[in-house]
Amino acid sequence: MSVHISAKKGEIAKTVLMPGDPLRAKYIADNFLTDVTLVSKTRNVFFFTGKYKGKEITVGASGMGFPSIGIYSYELFTEYEVDTIIRIGTCGAYATDLKLFDILNVEKAASESTYAKFAWEIEEEAISNQGDAFDKINQTASELNLNVKSTNIHSSDIFYRKNPTVPAIAEKYNCLAVEMEAFALFANAKYLGKNAATILTVSDIIPTKEEISADQREQALRTMMELSLETALK
Ligand code: ADE
Repeated sequence: MSVHISAKKGEIAKTVLMPGDPLRAKYIADNFLTDVTLVSKTRNVFFFTGKYKGKEITVGASGMGFPSIGIYSYELFTEYEVDTIIRIGTCGAYATDLKLFDILNVEKAASESTYAKFAWEIEEEAISNQGDAFDKINQTASELNLNVKSTNIHSSDIFYRKNPTVPAIAEKYNCLAVEMEAFALFANAKYLGKNAATILTVSDIIPTKEEISADQREQALRTMMELSLETALK
């Protein structure tokens, strides 16, 4: 057990897929995994370990924002000997050159957050994905004939804001979209020498206010789920 995860040692696989939402973790376990065990449900943040095409994989939620993914990814890496975390989430596009349902593989996450600096004395504003998971995602995408765009994204603490213009940091690092977790995940992995990647599906276009409807969400996210699962086999 760790402070926030009640699984026993050995009940978490070396590779963990992390959606933000606990029910999305359950959806993946129910629809893609066999031999599934619910290994932690502390705070209703579900972690399931099962098999995908014979390989043991854990899927568990990160919750929203840096504090939440910071806690779960740190405990997975340090208390459960996890090697690789692939976040699978949604993002808002800053411009109309991205379309709803587009899938992104994150090169760097740029942020105004002080998380990396105060946690690990990492001074960069833009932290790269860590290890080889990013390359494996791109390789898998090309094998599956999926169009996946490698790009920088903005990791923000803010979902609702007064001024909807693109923040300066997003301009500076040419970030096409915004989400709220990758920067802290990459910071933890960098400090600990682990592998971390983030796959995102565009769920909203900020300037036009278009968004994926609740009904479309499940189907839309399945492609990204399959991409992460196939990557985890490598
Ligand atoms: N995740 C999905 N859409 C988002 C947005 N517009 N801002 C931040 N995170 C998001």
